[in-house]
Amino acid sequence: MKHFIRFESKELGQELIDLARAYKATPRLDLAKGQGKRVGCIFLNPSLRTRVSTQIAAQNLGMEPIVLNMDKEGWALEMKEGAIMNKGTVEHIKDAAGVLGSYFDILAIRAFPSLTNRDEDVNDFIFGQFVKYCGKPVVSLESAIRHPLQSLADQITMKEYSDGKKKPKVVLTWGPHIKAIPHAVANSFSEWTLGMGYDLTITHPEGYELDEVFTKGATLEYNQSKALEDADFVYVKNWSSFNDYGKILSTDPSWMLTEKHLKKAKNAKVMHCLPVRRNLELSDEILDGSRSLVQKQAENRIYAAQAVLSSILG
Ligand code: CP
Repeated sequence: MKHFIRFESKELGQELIDLARAYKATPRLDLAKGQGKRVGCIFLNPSLRTRVSTQIAAQNLGMEPIVLNMDKEGWALEMKEGAIMNKGTVEHIKDAAGVLGSYFDILAIRAFPSLTNRDEDVNDFIFGQFVKYCGKPVVSLESAIRHPLQSLADQITMKEYSDGKKKPKVVLTWGPHIKAIPHAVANSFSEWTLGMGYDLTITHPEGYELDEVFTKGATLEYNQSKALEDADFVYVKNWSSFNDYGKILSTDPSWMLTEKHLKKAKNAKVMHCLPVRRNLELSDEILDGSRSLVQKQAENRIYAAQAVLSSILG
């Protein structure tokens, strides 16, 4: 595997899930594998889980992780080719990415979308500039449109809690939020869930349709109660509108999942990538109850990252 940026195939997905589960059973199984290697974790945006789990994953493989909070500690980056840099930007991405590539064996990058320029975001412009200029294998720590490490951890978690069911019903439901939130987690969850062969139902208020590139093959159901019937896994996430790009079209509190919503889904497990705004996006009673898998998902972030780094090391 050269880069880890998107879902590639069911076979590779399964390999990564199996490897991650082996690492979960024996975290230091391959402690010698990454000796003498460095991974640079470059953050252009905040993070808790991704930052820490990727560092632990690297250490479990004997690698040295170095974190750079580029948004706060690095120079202001210029992204435009041929720019005359006589304003606020100090360093061009091609110089910065080239230097980082020379320092590290693997670069891991987080670059959120602007949510104002749909074309740039859909083409993952900033993330793509790093890939183009660093010359090293790249791991996505969440780009403008995808969060594959989160999705891999989610797949591991669903595997662990499927109770042997071959075709569990998986539902992705929109939850309310007061901020415009990126599409990356919802896109990637859909891409990976469909790619791994699950049936997926997506439910949200009208106007919140995701990019079809990620949802082709899913069932769209605007009626949330109907969508949730007999669900085995319910993934809760907010996202802003894709068609009316980056806009908040609804904050309807009736979409926030509570026990009442799951009356017809008695065994449903509830997932969320975190961070979550409690009692806005998802209720305390669900998050603190026995259905919640959110802490398990967060724990699995370590082994997802470890499997990915290990596969890139070869
Ligand atoms: N789920 C997730 O990516 O969390 P962080 O933003 O805290 O890394």
